[in-house]
Amino acid sequence: DVMHGVNLDQLGRRDPEVYGTFTLPELEVRIKGYAAELGFDVTFWQTNHEGEFCEELHRARDRADGLVLNPGAWTHYSYAIRDALEVCGLPAVEVHISEVDSRDDWRRLSVIRDICVGRVQGKGADGYRDALEILRRELGE
Ligand code: DQA
Repeated sequence: DVMHGVNLDQLGRRDPEVYGTFTLPELEVRIKGYAAELGFDVTFWQTNHEGEFCEELHRARDRADGLVLNPGAWTHYSYAIRDALEVCGLPAVEVHISEVDSRDDWRRLSVIRDICVGRVQGKGADGYRDALEILRRELGE
């Protein structure tokens, strides 16, 4: 599964210098292409509600082999999502479109970082390809 969190549905309207001009549906088309190249059958999910994101993590366990996650701002403070990801137990790669480490100080902290198998930031849409490659390696060819 590729899971997008809060405000990622607003891509295309957010600062293009930071996030590019692509919309979430456009991003998903690109990710679908990357996934096909790597032999992944991919499912997308986006919500602006933290509890729903947690519930999707609970469900993903029975359905997916691995996760690519961009939880948006929740990354920086949601222990609920961290706990749900831990319960889920699937290998997960954290992705950020922007370079979170060189923006605001509060964006440097990720509460999920140490329970993810990889992390990609600042590569725009291409970062999702890197994330899928990390997941591919993690799951074996
Ligand atoms: C983001 C970075 C977060 O800091 C921000 O809150 C987002 C998007 C990114 O993809 O660059 O909503 O996760």
